[in-house]
Amino acid sequence: MAFPTRILVADDEPNIRLVLRESLRREGHEVLEAADGQEAIDAASRERFALAILDVKMPRVDGLVALEKIRQLDPDLPVVMITAHGGRPIALEAVRLGAYDYFEKPFEMQELRVVVKRALERRSLRWQIAALEEQLRSERSFDNIIGDGPAMREALSLVRRVMATEATVLVTGESGTGKELIAEALHFNSPRAARPLLKINCAAIPEALLESELFGHEKGAFTGAVAMKLGKFEVADKGTVFLDEIGEMPPSLQPKILRAIQQKEIERVGSSQTIPVDVRVIAASNRDLAREVEAGRFRADLFFRLNVVPIHLPPLRERREDIPALVEHFVRKFDADLRKSVRGFAPEAMERMQAYAWPGNVREMENIVQRAIILGSGSTLGVEALPPEIQRAGMPAETGATPATLGALELGFDWEDFAIPLSAKIERLTETFEAQLIRAALKKMGGRRQETADLLGISRKSLHNKMLRYKLFQEETRESIRERT
Ligand SMILES: Nc1ncnc2c1ncn2[C@@H]1O[C@H](COP(=O)(O)OP(=O)(O)OP(=O)(O)O)[C@@H](O)[C@H]1O
Ligand SMILES: [Mg+2]
Repeated sequence: MAFPTRILVADDEPNIRLVLRESLRREGHEVLEAADGQEAIDAASRERFALAILDVKMPRVDGLVALEKIRQLDPDLPVVMITAHGGRPIALEAVRLGAYDYFEKPFEMQELRVVVKRALERRSLRWQIAALEEQLRSERSFDNIIGDGPAMREALSLVRRVMATEATVLVTGESGTGKELIAEALHFNSPRAARPLLKINCAAIPEALLESELFGHEKGAFTGAVAMKLGKFEVADKGTVFLDEIGEMPPSLQPKILRAIQQKEIERVGSSQTIPVDVRVIAASNRDLAREVEAGRFRADLFFRLNVVPIHLPPLRERREDIPALVEHFVRKFDADLRKSVRGFAPEAMERMQAYAWPGNVREMENIVQRAIILGSGSTLGVEALPPEIQRAGMPAETGATPATLGALELGFDWEDFAIPLSAKIERLTETFEAQLIRAALKKMGGRRQETADLLGISRKSLHNKMLRYKLFQEETRESIRERT
């Protein structure tokens, strides 16, 4: 919806309308005139205005009635009333009914200009806020949670079933699987949606501060507590608190969280006064909390209280069927954001993405698609737009010399550092590989030279030279010293 620009002017006196119209036009505004309250209501039901200016005393329907009707039609529309001289009581009544401002006849043009300018600014701000809210709502709608495969479908159907309830939900899954996204969907589709969703990452806040973040503190509760501060549980009143990384909650605070959920009460740090709170708790963890309970690191009673409705998000590698739809979702998202005109990935690039293990799950994919769209050119992105580890995914190399096994050889340089010439890298790789094989053969043959040479299929002389070259004699000496001490 485009921002409305026209101003509605309603007055039964044609002269006043003329004066208003001309002065508003001089300021660059478009004006629609109405001769009475009913015409004004009709106009407001046909189109959106930037501002309405209503006379109070009009035939058929008076200004106050029109004000109420128009505010029902468009609650954000600022309405300015014109009253007769000495009409202050009526003006106050109008403000009570939701008028933004008023001025008295006869009015100064300067006064009118100021009131109109302020009202329009307010309209524009409100409009922007409404547009942002609309954008957030659509971002938070279920349509933006992608996952049509059985695993995600099950998780989402659970979300739908519990979102309208007050149930405590524990969302588990590896990093980047969408736990926070699910928490947001739960809150913004719940009866608490108009109230705040406050998030707190229990792993990111030092233990000493966490209690005050959660429950607030009184002035002077500790050094540095110069003023009283409300905690998340109080600020989120009638809303939701999202406790991220709940597995990191220090043992000292776990009973207090339990009390906040179960008894719905808290105490600020430095006070023994009980404060009732009304919040819904959604928790998330990338650890297996049941195992944390077994290990004695997490209270069983809190775990059971949190785990009323468990929602598990499987890692992406276990729901590869969702990969194409996710890729498409992110292409659309970033393509619009970055104003490019990418349509998607070439089939081969898609294959590699389906074969890749996605250790960082959906977040990793989001970053990689964004990067590909920024760096890529053309409307179809090929494998070259993907980082090397994904380009190699599913290729024969993946089962042999993967970066991980090359890494075990301790090459002494970053194998992806393209400033080092290829020939130098290959030479280094060969040497490192050869030294490693000789070490292994020597070990297997208990250090006996002839047997080792035979095993490797080289001469004893050649073995001797290679051992010199790779300083394997020194290694043997160090080894035997270590054994003797
Ligand atoms: N199913 C999905 N559909 C669309 N976007 C998703 C989906 N799952 C995750 N994302 C996106 O991936 C990113 C990571 O998700 P989110 O932050 O919810 O993960 P998380 O599980 O909380 O990770 P962490 O444990 O690291 O905090 C977000 O930008 C989120 O919007
Ligand atoms: Mg998260």
